[in-house]
Amino acid sequence: MSKENTVSDIPVLSAKHIVKHFPVGSFKRDKVVHATDDVSLDLYAGHVIALVGESGSGKSTIAKLLSQLVPITSGTIELNGKEVNTRSRRAFREFTDEVQMIFQDPFGSLNAIHTVRYILGRALQIHKKGLHGEKLEEAVIELLQRVKLTPAERYIDKFPHELSGGQRQRISIARALAANPKVLLADEPISMLDVSIRLGILNLLKDLRDNYGIAILYITHDVASARYFADQTLVMYAGRVIERGQSEMVTQHPAHPYTDLLVNSAPDPDHFNALRGEAHGEAPSLIDPPSGCRFRTRCPFATELCAQKVPPTVQAATGQEVACWLYTDNPGAMVNIGREGELATIHDMDLSDEVLAKIEHNKEALR
Ligand SMILES: Nc1ncnc2c1ncn2[C@@H]1O[C@H](COP(=O)(O)OP(=O)(O)O)[C@@H](O)[C@H]1O
Ligand code: SF4
Ligand SMILES: [Mg+2]
Repeated sequence: MSKENTVSDIPVLSAKHIVKHFPVGSFKRDKVVHATDDVSLDLYAGHVIALVGESGSGKSTIAKLLSQLVPITSGTIELNGKEVNTRSRRAFREFTDEVQMIFQDPFGSLNAIHTVRYILGRALQIHKKGLHGEKLEEAVIELLQRVKLTPAERYIDKFPHELSGGQRQRISIARALAANPKVLLADEPISMLDVSIRLGILNLLKDLRDNYGIAILYITHDVASARYFADQTLVMYAGRVIERGQSEMVTQHPAHPYTDLLVNSAPDPDHFNALRGEAHGEAPSLIDPPSGCRFRTRCPFATELCAQKVPPTVQAATGQEVACWLYTDNPGAMVNIGREGELATIHDMDLSDEVLAKIEHNKEALR
C-alpha cells in the first residue's frame, strides 16, 4: 500500500523541525552534542520511510525522540495531527498504545527469565486491561501467528535463549504488536541478525505495512535494504537530513554527494563517477560541527560558499529534495545543476577542465 492508497492524508506521526542537543562533560555543562538538527518527517499509514546514514549521524536519536524516550530540545512531534505531550504516566502509556519501537538487539530487549507466553501476555495486559485466562491465551497465539511463528504451540513455552536470533526478533515484533500500534519505529531491526534471515524479517514488516496499514520508520545503514523495503528514503549526515525522495530514485540516482558516496562506497578506479563522488576523512565532531554544509570537510565539490551558509533544500530534476549548493543557481557553487534543468545529478554533467581541476585540488587538500 502506498501513501496514495491510504484514506487519510494526515500523517499518523509527524516530526516538525526537531532538534536534540545532548549536554556533555560532567563539570561544566556548556558543551552539547548536536545529535539532531532541524529534522522534519511524516509517517503515513501503510507507508515505510527509511532513515539511512552512517553510524553517529543521529538516526537512533530521531527514533528515541519520536518514541518519547528522550526529551526534545526544540521542535514538535504530532500524533494524528495533535502535538504530543507525554509528561504524565498515563499520557505516555496512551502514546505507547499507538507508537511502538523495535530495537536492534532482540536478545537484550527480551527478558531472559520469562517464557514467550509471559512476555507477550504481559504486553497484552498492559495495553488491553482485563484480558486474562483463555482470551489472553488466544490473543498470545494470534500474535505468534501474526509474526509467522507457527504452529504457535511450538514457541509459546520457550525462553528467549531457546530461540534463534530471527525468532527472537519476531517475538520482539509480536510484543510491539500487542499494543495494536499505528506506528512501528524499527531501529536497525535486522543488522544484528544472520544475513540469511534478514529478508524474512523485512518481509514480515512489509506484511504488517500492507495488511495492517502500519506506518513504519525503518532505520538502517544499509542503503540496499532501504531500496527493497521503503517507499521513501531519507539520508542523514551529521544530524541533518541531506536528501529525501522515492527510495528508487535516492538509491539509484543519488543527488547529494554524500548519498552518492554511501551508494557507491566501494571505490572503483575505472568508474569515473565513483571517482568524482569520492570523499575522504571521518564524520565530523557533533560537538563543534562544521559551519555551513556539514559535509564540506569531506566533499570534493566544496567551495567557500559551502563553509559560509547552510545549503537550502531544493528539488533536484530527479524529484528528490536535496540540501546542497550544487542544486541552486547560486554563483558561489562550483557548478549549478539547477532544479529546472535537464541535468539530474552531478554524474549527468560534462564538467569543464576548470571544475575538474578544482575537484582534484579539493581532493588533494582533503587527503
Ligand atoms: N545520551 C547521549 N549523550 C550524549 N551524546 C549522545 C547521546 N546519545 C547519542 N549521542 C550522540 O549523538 C550522536 C548521534 O547518535 P545516534 O543518534 O545514536 O546516531 P546513529 O543512530 O545514527 O548511529 C552521536 O554523536 C552520539 O555519540
Ligand atoms: S553544499 Fe557544498 S560541501 Fe555540501 S554537499 Fe553540496 S557541494 Fe558539497
Ligand atoms: Mg543507531
